[in-house]
Amino acid sequence: MKPTLRSPGSLRALRTALLTALLALTKSRRAQAPLVSGLLAAGLIVAGSAALMRASHTPLIADARAAETTAASAGGNADTRPDIVKRGEYLARAGDCVACHTAPRGKLFAGGLAMETPFGTLYSPNITPDAQYGIGTWSQDAFFKMMRTGRTPDGTLIYPAMPIAQYTKVTREDSDAIFAYLQTVTPVRQPNHKHTLRFPFNQRNLLYGWRTLYFREGEFQPDPTKSVEWNRGAYLVEGLGHCTMCHTKINMLGGSSQSEQFAGGLIPVQNWYAPSLTSDKDGGLGDWSTKDIVDLLQAGISDRGAVYGPMAEVTYHSLQYMSTDDIKAMAVYLKTLPDKSGRKSGPSAPTNTNVFALGEKIYADKCALCHGAKGEGKLQHYPPLAGNQSIEMDSSVNPIRIVLNGGFPPGTMRNPEPYGMPPFGHELSDTEAAAVVTYIRTAWGNHGQPVTSRDVNALRDAPLH
Ligand code: HEC
Ligand code: HEC
Ligand code: HEC
Repeated sequence: MKPTLRSPGSLRALRTALLTALLALTKSRRAQAPLVSGLLAAGLIVAGSAALMRASHTPLIADARAAETTAASAGGNADTRPDIVKRGEYLARAGDCVACHTAPRGKLFAGGLAMETPFGTLYSPNITPDAQYGIGTWSQDAFFKMMRTGRTPDGTLIYPAMPIAQYTKVTREDSDAIFAYLQTVTPVRQPNHKHTLRFPFNQRNLLYGWRTLYFREGEFQPDPTKSVEWNRGAYLVEGLGHCTMCHTKINMLGGSSQSEQFAGGLIPVQNWYAPSLTSDKDGGLGDWSTKDIVDLLQAGISDRGAVYGPMAEVTYHSLQYMSTDDIKAMAVYLKTLPDKSGRKSGPSAPTNTNVFALGEKIYADKCALCHGAKGEGKLQHYPPLAGNQSIEMDSSVNPIRIVLNGGFPPGTMRNPEPYGMPPFGHELSDTEAAAVVTYIRTAWGNHGQPVTSRDVNALRDAPLH
């Protein structure tokens, strides 16, 4: 089967980010009613005119802003040394800027990608060096301030759909290099599309509340007790890589506590589960070798599993381009995330014998060909299902969705022609799909729980992208 992953601009990754951010706003409003509605009210009072107007990047406003920034900085002043520009390109890949700032079939970095949410639509802005519509008149300082503080040069607060809570950790040097690179891409004369968020999500002043709770401005602080490699990995994972945006669950206050960092979470609305990257019970990388992690991130396939769903996009747009040293540093860092409770152990969950038998039969008929009679897989193209924690996780969303929808790992430099898995949604009834998923979650000593036909049915309509 041929890879079908779309070229840059695919929507999944960024929708995630956006939803995370927006749900953060709703949730914080509900859970913290007094505080946030206070902030909301305050927001509304101030918001009347100026602040609200700035929220939209209409051409008119872009004009005014261009004039403003030109006066302040007289344009650009980006570093033009080729080695710096090249480094900036690499770092922009590490930050996956393209995933959000390039629309499908759109021009590179011209923005305009629609990010749909239950609260309306956001559109990514143009970050090409066009003087009128892009960031052509921004200075290196203004760009750095945006990365560090999450504000545009005129002071507008940026929605955390842009990973500002992570990018704030980026060093001045790296920010300058990214800016240098962005100033060399082809300028595109394309005005920004106004966000169409509904009230109250269109009130940027709500962001003051979110920032108080969850935005910690400041550069990454290396841990002197750890190796240079570990620190490099931590810097990339926590900063540019913005891995926590998906791999950390949003708590009731719409943010994530330190103790839940990397503990995994369901990506709302998209319905994919980003597993724990710690070494804890529910998934986790505790018994993965560094090589397995490197293979998974960089090639998209490994002896332990393949990437799919939103993670396939991360590998496709970003991680496959990163040096083996950097990916290895990330793996070294991930391996040291705290081990809270160890892997699941003991006997598998008891299952209804009829369901298990039905699942076993379907597995033998339709799945064993690729995944092996005992779930051992055919390394590395067909992932093992036995001992695969992304099947054993408490959340059954991922195995259900992959059985319904099939999947392709991304085509990468290390795995240019990935092998795919066909969708079974049309072939299997809810009962049958539930049986085969129950089977793979509980056979071969796996420690997942059974799933119901209702669980399957609920995911039939989940958005594919
Ligand atoms: C997950 C999606 C996402 C990623 C990844 C992302 N951005 Fe953004 N970015 C956005 C969105 C959405 C906005 C608009 C936010 C708003 O209107 O408040 C934005 C705003 C910006 C702005 C402000 C533009 C303006 O005209 O005000 C700049 C500059 C920017 N991003 C640069 C970058 C760079 C550089 C990277 C990579 C290092 C990057 N972005 C990665 C989503 C993203
Ligand atoms: C033609 C070969 C093929 C068949 C048949 C097949 N799969 Fe797959 N399966 C794959 C490939 C390739 C992947 C990796 C997909 C990706 O990364 O998007 C995969 C991935 C998976 C995963 C995710 C594994 C992980 O790493 O987390 C599960 C679960 C799964 N398959 C279950 C099944 C079940 C159940 C069936 C039968 C109903 C089945 N597969 C049939 C090839 C196949
Ligand atoms: C857009 C959301 C998103 C972002 C950003 C993201 N991930 Fe993921 N990740 C997922 C999802 C969803 C899965 C589950 C699917 C799979 O296993 O491929 C996953 C799976 C993984 C796995 C496999 C875990 C397992 O137990 O099978 C690893 C390792 C991983 N991600 C590491 C990272 C790292 C490192 C980063 C940052 C560079 C990152 N991810 C950024 C969504 C994301």
